Amino acid sequence: MSYLRFENVGKLYGKDAWAVKDFNLEVKNGEFVSFLGPSGCGKTTTLRMIAGLEENTHGKIFFDDEIVSDPQSKTFLLPEKRNVGMVFQSYAVWPHMNVFDNVAYPLKLKKMSKEKIREEVMKILKIVELDGLELRKSHELSGGQQQRVALARGLVMRPRILLLDEPLSNLDAKLREKMRKDIRAIQQEFKLTMVYVTHDQKEAFQMSDKIVVMNKGLIQQIGPPIEIQQNPQNDFVADFIKSGDN
Ligand SMILES: Nc1ncnc2c1ncn2[C@@H]1O[C@H](COP(=O)(O)OP(=O)(O)OP(=O)(O)O)[C@@H](O)[C@H]1O
Ligand SMILES: [Mg+2]
Repeated sequence: MSYLRFENVGKLYGKDAWAVKDFNLEVKNGEFVSFLGPSGCGKTTTLRMIAGLEENTHGKIFFDDEIVSDPQSKTFLLPEKRNVGMVFQSYAVWPHMNVFDNVAYPLKLKKMSKEKIREEVMKILKIVELDGLELRKSHELSGGQQQRVALARGLVMRPRILLLDEPLSNLDAKLREKMRKDIRAIQQEFKLTMVYVTHDQKEAFQMSDKIVVMNKGLIQQIGPPIEIQQNPQNDFVADFIKSGDN
């Protein structure tokens, strides 16, 4: 049974602007799947449809075998009912809260005990190298630090599916390399299901169980990194892989 499934999903703006079209994909429980493709290819739109922040205009989205969105039957599960975590491309950390409270927020909603919250938050802050900055307000942080607050808040929640939209784009090369390994390790330790958006193929190849290569709203190829690398299915994928850093 797949954990997340798309059946002919599409997002049409206006009369003929397809942001995403004919999208078919199965994600298994505990799988790490990356959406890889150039700017404007529909990565963020697809993530937002999983979270319910955007409604698909066509097709069906399933969690397990339950339909969460189907415009034809007017089914739409609200975002807050989906137990999906999202780390946004723009960090969306709360400016009036300090680092600790930003990260602790999802756990407070779960009514976890104060001691347990402290333990969990400090563990994650250490991983993202923000320990020592717990009491800083978000607006007193650099872009890269804010990005790590957002990442920590997503990880600490351990949702059924964690969606990450270019979560490392503002970090320097060394920190990015470390974070890739840490995210993958946490994902495997807690058997999280993750959908990870990037336009950086190195990142996708290093982290993923499965990569979905996209262009202009259409899936070009789905497969494990090695297969994409050794057996590109069309010219777009071959060129994209060849062109190195994207
Ligand atoms: N509200 C909207 N109305 C019309 N078109 C939109 C809207 N939102 C997004 N689009 C279009 O849908 C397409 C896909 O956008 P999306 O944000 O999903 O791309 P992306 O792959 O995440 O790109 P990037 O790597 O630049 O973040 C783009 O062509 C974009 O211009
Ligand atoms: Mg995007």
